[in-house]
Amino acid sequence: MVSTQPVAIQAHGSQYLPQLSSSGINLSPNLLLLPMSARVNHHDFLEIGGCDVKTLVEQFDSPLYILDEQTLRVACRQYQEACQKYYKGEFQILYASKAWNCLAICAIVASEGLGIDVVSGGEIYTALQAGVSPSKIYFHGNNKSRAELNLAIESNCPIVVDNWLELRTLAELATNNPGIRIMLRLTPGIECHTHEYIRTGNLDSKFGFDINDLDQVFAFISQQPGLNCFGLHAHIGSQIFERQPHRDLARIMVQWLRESLKHGLNITELNVGGGLGVKYVESDDPPNIEEWIKAICEVVQNACTSENLPLPKLLCEPGRSLVATAGVTAYTVGATKTIPGIRTYLAIDGGMSDNPRPITYQSVYRAVIANKMSAPLSQTVTVAGKHCESGDILIKDAQLPRTEPGDILVVMGTGAYNYSMSSNYNRLPRPAAVLVMNGEANLILQRETYQDLVRLDCLPERLK
Ligand SMILES: Cc1ncc(COP(=O)(O)O)c(C=O)c1O
Repeated sequence: MVSTQPVAIQAHGSQYLPQLSSSGINLSPNLLLLPMSARVNHHDFLEIGGCDVKTLVEQFDSPLYILDEQTLRVACRQYQEACQKYYKGEFQILYASKAWNCLAICAIVASEGLGIDVVSGGEIYTALQAGVSPSKIYFHGNNKSRAELNLAIESNCPIVVDNWLELRTLAELATNNPGIRIMLRLTPGIECHTHEYIRTGNLDSKFGFDINDLDQVFAFISQQPGLNCFGLHAHIGSQIFERQPHRDLARIMVQWLRESLKHGLNITELNVGGGLGVKYVESDDPPNIEEWIKAICEVVQNACTSENLPLPKLLCEPGRSLVATAGVTAYTVGATKTIPGIRTYLAIDGGMSDNPRPITYQSVYRAVIANKMSAPLSQTVTVAGKHCESGDILIKDAQLPRTEPGDILVVMGTGAYNYSMSSNYNRLPRPAAVLVMNGEANLILQRETYQDLVRLDCLPERLK
């Protein structure tokens, strides 16, 4: 029988709005597509943090990174609360600031009690300038320069030692600076891809000490009175949707802890790295923050009980799952090109310079038209960036309503590894970023200008 019911036309934007659970709370930010504060206002426009996105673009220009403070803070709190709930020992959450390192974000996460994972002198400097306590700035990296090591030592930041050269350099520096606080990064032999993982005896990774060197490394450190080795670290990958790899990792790390005792080391901290995935598209299905933390805490506690070891201080260092969903990027729609029977390209005013993930990793994203949130889906288009690169495609086959030049296209989930991986390719100035909360918008990163682009250029006299 043919239904006589009118067919409901789904508003294209509302499908991505956060749906409150029956209790109205406990949305894990990593499971959302739009930030937690996203609403559609009475003009049918998208609002984030109580700010109309179209108005933000008018005020701060386009493209524009928009960061929702509520989503970021809720994610920090969920990590903290889950550790409080499931871990009986001390813990410390670190924000892996490679996801997006800037003063405002460092200051926000620090105000929530998080420390910061940094991977360069520049990231150390930014975290210090943001007022983060140096003892909570953990310095990673597989090829730290002497200048970077000295900056970390002078600032009293713990150093996560990656390899023999670095270990020997630190042992030498410790002769004049005894008490340098270090952790060791080890390669656990767990290799993660997004939807699967494998455990291998000998993992091909540029990071960390080979696990077969474990005894030698511990023995070397036990002979270095100037080095205070207090922790072990491992990171197995990013955008991981399963809990088992981190369970395996936690179990292996407790075994390392037991091994370290044989060498008389006093290891009190275990850092299991980051890696919890986020939902970029509807089919992505990561565990929520609480489930992920619970899985790790259970294994560490059970393994320590069965090994009769005291509970270490537990650290983890999420990046993406703290900040990805808090961020969106607003672009202005420009030209369209339709190739009959093939595809329609919809060009926007940014692209691979502000979001290099699609061209680098074939990452997928969803988008909405911020000034037409209730309009029905009516076209499949390929959202193309403005760079001189055929591969500069932000979204293939995006489902969108009918668009016109001047519409505001918002790409969701761009808070992690977008600004931090941005470039000036084709000499595009980097976009501005605004922090939104309760109807207030604060600039956190200024838009670059053409003057900024030539600021570090030098024109030799003979070329003038
Ligand atoms: C050492 C280390 N820790 C933490 C992270 C953060 O990972 P994610 O953003 O997936 O949480 C990374 C990212 O690659 C990393 O290399």
